[in-house]
Amino acid sequence: MSRHTPIAILIAILTVIALASLTAGRWLPLAEPDDQQASTGLASVDGSFPSECATCHGETADYPLQGARTQYLESGHHLGFDLEEPHAFYANGGGCQSCHTHEGFVQTLASGEVDRDGFIEWPSQPNCFTCHEPHERGDFSLRTTEAVTLVSGREFDMGAGNLCANCHQARTAAADAVKATPANQVRSYFGPHHGPQADLVAGTGAFEFENQTYGSSQHRFDVEGACVGCHMPLPEGRYSLSASVGGHSFNIAHIEGEDVTVNAAACQGCHEGIEAVDGSRLFDTPAGADWDADGSEEIAQAEVQGLLDRLVNPGGTGLLQQGPAPIYTASGDFNGRAPDDLMRSEAEMAALFNYKFFSEDRSLGIHNMPYTVQVLQDTITALDPAFDRSTRPR
Ligand code: HEC
Ligand code: HEC
Ligand code: HEC
Ligand code: HEC
Ligand code: HEC
Ligand code: HEC
Repeated sequence: MSRHTPIAILIAILTVIALASLTAGRWLPLAEPDDQQASTGLASVDGSFPSECATCHGETADYPLQGARTQYLESGHHLGFDLEEPHAFYANGGGCQSCHTHEGFVQTLASGEVDRDGFIEWPSQPNCFTCHEPHERGDFSLRTTEAVTLVSGREFDMGAGNLCANCHQARTAAADAVKATPANQVRSYFGPHHGPQADLVAGTGAFEFENQTYGSSQHRFDVEGACVGCHMPLPEGRYSLSASVGGHSFNIAHIEGEDVTVNAAACQGCHEGIEAVDGSRLFDTPAGADWDADGSEEIAQAEVQGLLDRLVNPGGTGLLQQGPAPIYTASGDFNGRAPDDLMRSEAEMAALFNYKFFSEDRSLGIHNMPYTVQVLQDTITALDPAFDRSTRPR
């Protein structure tokens, strides 16, 4: 069904619902109906609209509902991964629904869990009502801002960003998962799960090596609301506003064919003059060191990509692409086939976990540069002791 419901239909639905709910005397714990409504009990019959609904649905609404919706229609939450497949349908059971469906999320927050054996009929994508409760509260305050305990045991407590951390977190603790394992038991879904952003922002969750200390970015203290403070500010100026970046698109970059739109407004408040490199989604902050030891000092995110490439790359030369039965094939696909007697060492399993952790985070270090570079350099060194990590950040 099209989500662009014509206003006439909406008003008709509203009228019916308002009639039913106002007469039943239970809908919104909002303002009392005004005198005229109270006297008839049927506010909408003469064409007037219940004033408590008009705060949001009326002509002089207090909130920019349609603007938020237009942006939300551009978001991964609405469109799904790869911006085409609604994930509420493919991850709608087995516990997956607690992050991939609206209904599962609401149930998880209310009761602490979802029915792993069940599934949601008519599941909904995350939507306005997932993050807000406008009909219960009469405003757009967030459904939850409670601190979240991550699988590593670390607490994530960053204001409005706590909402996001409920879903954008690792699902597997590295310390439990990483150990020498028979190769034919290593599954393609081994790892932290696709969205470990909260863990990385907090500086935890990757496999950390003994006798090393790990730093963490200032971003976790300085950016108000963490996730919200970087992903939701709008571009500045009326000509740069775009439905596909900032606000309820939740995107920092949007790519369509050759066109790349990057919203640096949030960053510029702290990093004067920071911009995206022309035609790319990467920011122009120099690394200041050759972290990936390829002989040239590049921008920070390119160095991080270089570190990931040392593990898996399109040329097939990555450390996880070596040997007779490598974990990744030369073309970069996960290789599930291996001889029965082959063991993957702890260092290989750590590398697999950390490769997934940082590649699936997808910020190429912006979420937490020191932690990203330190962990990746240590990971590479564990497989290739000749790797030069003299540039390891402190
Ligand atoms: C605080 C804001 C707010 C108030 C007040 C409010 N609504 Fe809504 N309402 C929303 C939002 C947000 C949506 C979802 C819009 C969207 O999906 O783009 C919505 C959607 C709806 C829908 C469509 C349902 C759907 O699932 O798409 C109906 C019907 C509705 N509201 C009725 C009412 C009625 C009746 C009242 C007053 C009794 C009311 N609303 C008051 C914010 C509000
Ligand atoms: C109910 C769980 C949930 C909450 C809460 C949530 N997200 Fe998401 N988010 C997801 C899922 C699931 C996806 C991936 C969609 C898919 O895989 O189909 C996603 C996708 C995204 C994407 C797009 C990624 C891409 O591939 O394009 C961004 C950006 C994002 N979320 C940021 C946020 C931010 C910022 C917050 C907090 C304001 C937040 N999310 C809150 C579950 C959630
Ligand atoms: C993934 C979570 C998420 C979803 C989905 C979402 N919002 Fe929001 N919304 C937020 C966050 C976070 C804020 C910023 C609130 C803050 O910083 O306290 C916000 C703010 C708002 C505000 C501004 C409130 C104010 O007081 O200024 C409005 C209006 C709003 N949202 C409407 C919507 C509508 C309409 C939809 C559906 C089309 C929607 N939101 C979907 C997370 C979400
Ligand atoms: C704790 C919350 C959470 C749970 C539980 C969860 N996911 Fe996800 N999943 C996410 C988030 C968040 C993303 C998006 C991350 C991003 O866009 O960076 C995601 C992304 C995905 C993707 C898209 C990534 C891709 O490569 O296509 C798939 C598929 C997926 N999840 C499947 C599942 C399945 C299947 C389950 C249950 C076995 C599950 N998820 C359970 C939060 C969760
Ligand atoms: C310091 C700013 C900053 C903070 C804080 C931040 N992000 Fe990001 N995030 C980024 C940047 C920059 C990217 C890379 C965007 C791109 O290239 O599309 C990114 C990428 C992502 C992506 C992948 C988006 C995509 O399109 O591939 C998701 C999902 C995401 N962040 C979620 C979160 C969540 C959840 C939090 C809070 C736990 C968070 N971010 C905190 C800046 C930030
Ligand atoms: C509230 C302020 C604030 C915001 C907003 C912010 N940053 Fe930062 N950022 C910092 C601070 C402080 C540091 C740590 C500086 C240091 O240690 O030298 C930092 C570090 C970085 C680094 C790492 C530099 C290095 O070599 O370690 C990069 C890259 C970066 N930020 C990019 C971004 C991008 C891109 C955005 C927007 C998406 C952003 N920042 C938003 C304050 C901010």
